Amino acid sequence: MVKPIKIALLGLGNVGAGVWRILQQNGAAIAGRAGGPLEIVGIAVRDVNKTRLVDVPAALLTTDPMPLIADPDIPIVVETIGCPGGDTGPAGRFIIEALKRGKHVVTANKEALAKHGAAFFRAAAEGGGSLYYEGAVAGGIPIVKAFKESLAANQVQTIMGIINGTTNYMLTRMDKEGLEFADVLAQAQKLGYAEADPTSDVEGHDAAYKLALLASIAFEAEINIDDVYREGITRITAEDLQSARELGFAVKLLAIAKQDATGIEARVHPTLIPLSHPLAAVGDVFNAVFVQGDAVGDLMFYGRGAGMMPTGSAVVADCIDAALNIRRGVGAPRNGRPPERKAIKPIEEVTARFYLNFKVIDRPGVLAAIASILGQNNVSIESVIQKGRRQDPVGLVIVTHSVLERDIRRALAAISELSMVRAIANVMRVEGENS
Ligand SMILES: NC(=O)c1ccc[n+]([C@@H]2O[C@H](COP(=O)([O-])OP(=O)(O)OC[C@H]3O[C@@H](n4cnc5c(N)ncnc54)[C@H](OP(=O)(O)O)[C@@H]3O)[C@@H](O)[C@H]2O)c1
Repeated sequence: MVKPIKIALLGLGNVGAGVWRILQQNGAAIAGRAGGPLEIVGIAVRDVNKTRLVDVPAALLTTDPMPLIADPDIPIVVETIGCPGGDTGPAGRFIIEALKRGKHVVTANKEALAKHGAAFFRAAAEGGGSLYYEGAVAGGIPIVKAFKESLAANQVQTIMGIINGTTNYMLTRMDKEGLEFADVLAQAQKLGYAEADPTSDVEGHDAAYKLALLASIAFEAEINIDDVYREGITRITAEDLQSARELGFAVKLLAIAKQDATGIEARVHPTLIPLSHPLAAVGDVFNAVFVQGDAVGDLMFYGRGAGMMPTGSAVVADCIDAALNIRRGVGAPRNGRPPERKAIKPIEEVTARFYLNFKVIDRPGVLAAIASILGQNNVSIESVIQKGRRQDPVGLVIVTHSVLERDIRRALAAISELSMVRAIANVMRVEGENS
């Protein structure tokens, strides 16, 4: 009989309960794949008396994670406590303590990884521990391992991801039903897709944490959360979505990272993509990551980016990898080398096409005046639509050719001074080639 490999589970909320259920449900098959059974021998929570999503023996529960982390008989520590109230402190400390003791640490905590990843890698290098985090990006979609292993032969050039299910659900409903942001947010909160405080999702923080991780892995660089330029979806109106559609585009909150000879760019913002692009068809709470590698070409990974069982699926897969590595007496592959710091381009130096939504007075010469300022700032126009006539103001929507962010910002500052321009209602970047 092969001895079970022992696991300490920190947290028994959504993800922790998913991990428990999967190990119960698929335990025999998992034991076959892991070279022996995986056994959860202790679970740390805040309140041992709370009603749980799964039935666990009361004797396993404790409010003190440290004895589990320090136990030399427990080689795997699974951290699913997250960052309650935005505090990465406890999870970060537990991860570091476990790595320093040479443990195999599995986490889905994107926020802690994006903020303290460098410290985690240092602790792993110091103590011989290994870090696994497939569940931290895009939940059940196997993207971390794909970058580390399946795509290891490539130079990754572009990553474009829909990696926040809440905002994708909201934009899908706004587009399909013509609803405004506030109405669709209320709907998402009612359905449990959005938190009571939706800031992390709608302002793009959650997607930015995940992009920092993805770009770090794909480009083998230390990319911190502060390196990621971020805009949320709160300014988008149903009218923007309709105008975009008339021009042949869908609007998505995209997490974009690119690498070329001039450096790395990493940004999260609402983006117009051609309706023919595979990301345009990714609706509701689904996630997808579109990748371009120099050898492999275009790829797209699609699936459920959150939820107890999809995220549990990724976390348990990491536990199986950890168990196999323990039996082989090795660490996680490509884990020992802390990533290097590489130059990240400031947003002003990034090039993109732009969607510009102006509210202007309906008078001859307005378009010419705007076009002239755009031209003076190296911005050329790809297409124009005018919305409504003989009313004040009317909508004027312009899509530009590729332009340096610095130039479009200068042009918009000058346009906002024109008396016939009532407002610059929205500005969004455009990605993906029209086919
Ligand atoms: N939910 C998802 O779909 C999803 C998807 C991808 C990644 N993630 C990530 O997975 C992590 C967990 O998310 P979740 O949704 O499962 O969170 P959750 O439902 O809030 O569960 C957190 C658990 O951690 C416990 N806990 C909190 N602070 C603790 C402490 N100091 N010591 C011991 N236990 C503590 C809580 O105990 P009590 O139950 O006693 O309060 C609870 O059981 C987060 O980092 C999240 O970003 C989640």
